Amino acid sequence: MKTVIVTGASSGFGLDMVKLFLKDGWNVIATLRKLEQRRDQLSKELNLDDPHLKLFELDVSQKNELDSFIKNVATVDVLINNAGFGTYGALEDISEEQLRYQMEVNFFAPALLIQGLLPKLRANQGKVINISSLMGRYACPLSSVYSASKYALEGLSEGLMYELKSHGVDVVTIQPGGHRTNFTSSIIWGANSLSENSPYKTQTDGFIRMMKKLNSRKKAPKSESVAQVAFKLANARNLPRNIVVGNDAKFVAFLQSLMPKALYRKLMFVSNKKIFGA
Ligand SMILES: NC(=O)c1ccc[n+]([C@@H]2O[C@H](COP(=O)([O-])OP(=O)(O)OC[C@H]3O[C@@H](n4cnc5c(N)ncnc54)[C@H](OP(=O)(O)O)[C@@H]3O)[C@@H](O)[C@H]2O)c1
Repeated sequence: MKTVIVTGASSGFGLDMVKLFLKDGWNVIATLRKLEQRRDQLSKELNLDDPHLKLFELDVSQKNELDSFIKNVATVDVLINNAGFGTYGALEDISEEQLRYQMEVNFFAPALLIQGLLPKLRANQGKVINISSLMGRYACPLSSVYSASKYALEGLSEGLMYELKSHGVDVVTIQPGGHRTNFTSSIIWGANSLSENSPYKTQTDGFIRMMKKLNSRKKAPKSESVAQVAFKLANARNLPRNIVVGNDAKFVAFLQSLMPKALYRKLMFVSNKKIFGA
């Protein structure tokens, strides 16, 4: 039976992936932070006595934890780099520490996990599935730092797709649009973003209004659809370069494929002005 690793398995896409792979009889190594505090909550979602499930405490921003995790993995067929979060706000309002932490979790952790697990992935002719974002193909005001982390993940994935092909390892990204998970409640705002004296106050207020509107949408897709795509990719023979999930993400991808770049940028300037008020 094959083994999948899912990082960030405490909620959202990651938790749904764990359920789906276990249901199909895979061995699942699920990593998450604060494991002991979460056992009770997790036991409502998963059968923690399932012999196919192995839980591992891992804060992906901690190099020593990544190293000891990698040492503990005996075998892996599919690595899903899912753990991630968004740092939002204008660059000028974000501290250096916040900037580095965003890259640590969303970019360096996946890169180091792939690097450390490659000997085992090569041995098993395995796969890497990186959970990127619509924001990994499209950037807008006040999310440039989050976008940068996902663009970096996209660049890494594209290069690795070529680099690892002849070694038998496939690499793919999933680019979800907005889905109902804990993502929005986990957003970290820039240190100065919510202050009255931020030069970006008008844009920040516009952004928060837009987020509230999006969150109240009844039709925001549930997280299962992303988990299902990951599950299909894990079982597929031929992988695409990336997969876009969700109507909003598909719409942006469609515009990008259709429009000349100059026209696309013009449209973005107009819509950003409308949404963010500046
Ligand atoms: N939901 C969306 O609309 C959306 C759209 C596009 C892309 N994404 C991407 O999808 C992935 C999963 O997010 P989600 O939507 O499922 O949100 P979520 O419910 O907040 O799940 C995020 C997971 O990442 C974990 N995580 C965050 N920082 C971590 C760290 N330093 N070490 C270990 N784990 C950490 C969280 O752990 P804790 O519970 O301990 O915080 C949680 O398990 C992320 O990479 C996100 O960027 C989400």
